[in-house]
Amino acid sequence: MGYENLTFPEGSRFLVTGAAGFIGSNLVEAILQLGYKVRGLDDFSTGKQENVEEFSRHPNYEFIEGTIIDHDTCVGACEGVDYVLHQAAWGSVPRSIEMPLFYEEVNIRGTLNMMEAARQNGVKKFVYASSSSVYGDEPNLPKQEGREGNVLSPYALTKKVDEGYGKLYTKLYNLDTYGLRYFNVFGRRQNPDGAYAAVIPKFIKQLLNDEIPTINGDGKQSRDFTYIENVIEANLKACKASSEAAGEVYNIAYGGREYLVDIYNGLCNALGKGIKPIFGPERKGDIKHSNADIGKAKALLGYDPEWNFERGITEAINWYQESLRSA
Ligand SMILES: NC(=O)c1ccc[n+]([C@@H]2O[C@H](COP(=O)([O-])OP(=O)(O)OC[C@H]3O[C@@H](n4cnc5c(N)ncnc54)[C@H](O)[C@@H]3O)[C@@H](O)[C@H]2O)c1
Repeated sequence: MGYENLTFPEGSRFLVTGAAGFIGSNLVEAILQLGYKVRGLDDFSTGKQENVEEFSRHPNYEFIEGTIIDHDTCVGACEGVDYVLHQAAWGSVPRSIEMPLFYEEVNIRGTLNMMEAARQNGVKKFVYASSSSVYGDEPNLPKQEGREGNVLSPYALTKKVDEGYGKLYTKLYNLDTYGLRYFNVFGRRQNPDGAYAAVIPKFIKQLLNDEIPTINGDGKQSRDFTYIENVIEANLKACKASSEAAGEVYNIAYGGREYLVDIYNGLCNALGKGIKPIFGPERKGDIKHSNADIGKAKALLGYDPEWNFERGITEAINWYQESLRSA
């Protein structure tokens, strides 16, 4: 259970791309807590300095400010690295519909640059962030690896292409790659601001500020909301997985199903707010329901998520209350 007791060879070095982002900064923190060396790479395009500031004086931490669009930067970042946790990318389905060329450059070319750099440097394990959006319009639930539909956005297509390269790099070059299809991750340090923010941090911040949140659609859409601790566990366990499990993709979720209106009402209750939301139009490229079968990750990575939605949301609310109060 969990990841706190995982061990790696002494002196192991990790590279986390997208280190100044939500998931990346949490991975950096967990690796430092386990006692290993970690290098972060980020260009601060959507990430924040404040997410990595607290690690800056840690003796096991170093940071490279640079972009994965530049292959030489990727090669330098992978030097002397055992494990790559590749998180850098542009997220958000609606934004990708507005700027597809940019998504292609960062999410596809950037990921290919990183895989190639990892191969050139003899990295042991290359773990990369994919997304549940690759399931597209596949209607069957729970979502199962190998049963994908047509993708509905440029973002989803970039992740699908990344997965294709991941498989090829294992097959052609013996680089052990593991694609993790995250399902709606939430938790501390997720950005609550801006038009493309994820719903949970956005609603928490709006409710704390007595603003009226907008729910896209009728609110009856459901998702497998996954607490950040489970995602950290999946990344670290993938680093310890066998080579037989490489070249594959894995659903990373809790395996639950939460409806958006219920989450909204739960947040109102927890924060003591009686604010009625506005119901807006549905978002293009969105699917109605999504939840995951996590059997493959359990069987092949030993993934065993400990944090259900209620436990995670309680901790997330506390964190946002604290951090927004002290901001
Ligand atoms: N958060 C989720 O629910 C979720 C769900 C599915 C998949 N993912 C994937 O997980 C990964 C991390 O997502 P997140 O939620 O932490 O997003 P985030 O935006 O908080 O973090 C991404 C980080 O990547 C950095 N970055 C972007 N372009 C870069 C570039 N060219 N060079 C270097 N750094 C760059 C950003 O500055 C940012 O710090 C992404 O690959 C995302 O697609 C996230």
